[in-house]
Formats: sequence, structure tokens, C-alpha cells
Amino acid sequence: MWLPKNSSGSLRNKSPFRSPDIESKREGIKVLELSEKIKEHFRNPLNVGEIENPEGMGTVDNPVCGDTTKLSLRISNGVIEDARFLSFGCAVTIASASVFTEKIKGKEVSWVFSGNDEEVVQRLINLIESELGEIPAIKLHCPPATVQVFLEAMAQYFGREERAELGPRIKGLIPLVSVYYKRGEEEA
Ligand code: FES
Repeated sequence: MWLPKNSSGSLRNKSPFRSPDIESKREGIKVLELSEKIKEHFRNPLNVGEIENPEGMGTVDNPVCGDTTKLSLRISNGVIEDARFLSFGCAVTIASASVFTEKIKGKEVSWVFSGNDEEVVQRLINLIESELGEIPAIKLHCPPATVQVFLEAMAQYFGREERAELGPRIKGLIPLVSVYYKRGEEEA
């Protein structure tokens, strides 16, 4: 079993599918209103697992809560053919990774990275949030972790390919994701 580091740096054994109720107690709130889509993807997440010998792989500890997500990609002829994730995050993170991996499959890499840097990051965030419905302010820092881990995996992919010069561009997109982590800070 995968034992990620928590935000304090120690190892802990967390269920990848802890219940939203436990989550609520952990964060000191009584009830967390989650959309039906979030609950659906949390209960039956798609694309869980790891790809053997992936073209790209990344691991991210969410900078806000420390929860860990890992993503691996199969890419062939410029098309993302498969995407798999593991996460010890909350319901919203699991739902985000589930919907993102489902939507990114079949996309051409050239489509994903077309446009300027801000457009690319917004497009990736939209892949998740257009699907999940309203996300509680206290959970708005969760979807960006999936986008960041995807960018980490793509940076590794580009680093290995002939197009190694694109690796630094993709790495350069990661700081733009930090804006999305901060959303909801005031309301939360
Ligand atoms: Fe940590 Fe959502 S609260 S992943």
C-alpha cells in the first residue's frame, strides 16, 4: 500500500476513499454540501491505478492541505491514450482526478497546449470544474492539484521526447496553477 507523506512530513496510512463525513469532522465543519457529480465520482472513481512504464508520471502534494495525488500517462503519436491516478486526497480531489483523467483521454497534446499559458491552465481547470458543478469554497484548492500533477507528468514526457525544449514551458505553467489554489481562501 502506498503511504504518502502528510503535510507535517510524517508517514500515515490513509484510505484513498475516506468518507465526506470523516472529512467534515477533520476540518471542523458539520456538513459539507457536495454536488451529485462530485459524490458520484467519489463513490465510483474512474481510471484509478497506475500505468506500467508510462510516458509521463507525476506526484504532487497539495500545497494547501498536503494530500497526495499521483498520475501516470500513456501517450502515443501525440495523443493521450490513457491516464490513471492514485490519491489520498478528499472526495473533491478524487472526483477531480476521476473526471480529469476521463476527459483528457483521447485529447491531442497539441490541443491541450495550444494558446497562451493562461489559456492552457484555464482550459485544464475547466475540464474538471465544468463537469463537477459547484465546489464548496473550502474545497476550491483541491481541483488544481490534478492540473498540477498532469503538468508534472507532461513535463516528464516532454523531457524524454525529442521535443525536450517544451519541458521548461510546461514547468513554467505550474506557478500559474498557484492562483487557483488560493481561491476561496477568504470565504473558507
Ligand atoms: Fe486535501 Fe481536498 S482537502 S485534497
